[in-house]
Amino acid sequence: MSALYEQDRLLHQYLLFHYGTSEEILAGSDLPPLPNAVFQFPVATVGMLRSHFAAPGRVLDLGCAVGRSSFEFSRFTEGSVTGIDFSRRFIEAAEALRRGESLICRRYAEGHWGEDLPIHAGIEGARPDRIQFECGDAMDLRDDLGCFDVVHAANLLCRLPYPERFLQRLGALVVPGGWLVMATPGTWLEEFTAASEQPPGLTLDYLKCRLGADFTLQEVRELPFCIREHRRKFQLSTSQTSVWQRKV
Ligand SMILES: C[S@@+](CC[C@H](N)C(=O)[O-])C[C@H]1O[C@@H](n2cnc3c(N)ncnc32)[C@H](O)[C@@H]1O
Repeated sequence: MSALYEQDRLLHQYLLFHYGTSEEILAGSDLPPLPNAVFQFPVATVGMLRSHFAAPGRVLDLGCAVGRSSFEFSRFTEGSVTGIDFSRRFIEAAEALRRGESLICRRYAEGHWGEDLPIHAGIEGARPDRIQFECGDAMDLRDDLGCFDVVHAANLLCRLPYPERFLQRLGALVVPGGWLVMATPGTWLEEFTAASEQPPGLTLDYLKCRLGADFTLQEVRELPFCIREHRRKFQLSTSQTSVWQRKV
């Protein structure tokens, strides 16, 4: 299923999701008004960490997609932000935005029909020079990646064939006293994760069990998000977002 995130349609969905304003995302829709928070997800997961940790040194954004959270981290980190995603197309788009280029995003109205919208990452206070985007597999990260003050993994966990492999590496990736932000809607599907690899019960209980030896759970919140498919179809979900501190 990883090929899903190489498709034009998904690329355009994520460009709009990460960089579109609420007006741009809702254009042409007859939905009743939605709270602004549903359009702030890639910013909100980063904001949740900021109440715990003001200025991290090294940040790792795993499953960064087209990179919005990485840009958000660059606004307040004193060091570097590494954004890693399995999708080559997403990383190429994130890197083009990092270089200051504009991209064209197709905002679908219905079927394949839609209109083109320019997307750029001119986010106030962002420091693109501090960001590095690269392709990689969260279940098999390169050995020389080093350690991070913060690891952020938003809506990645339930897209992995072997979530256990990803979770096992986290203790070594986060420095003692450092932070982990794990957001997941818990949408476990066999297309992505075989039933035998899925949590046996609730995802938060599974995370407590797998992360508890290395991390202390500090906060859990449901953060909403809205992804436009076309003018009459939107995914409206919440992601259970947990903040963990690495034990010293
Ligand atoms: C549901 S999207 C979430 C993207 C982004 N973090 C967000 O919250 O909008 C899942 C992302 O994980 C990426 N992904 C899937 N499998 C991966 C893997 N094994 N390693 C790294 N990234 C992966 C996909 O390419 C996609 O960008």
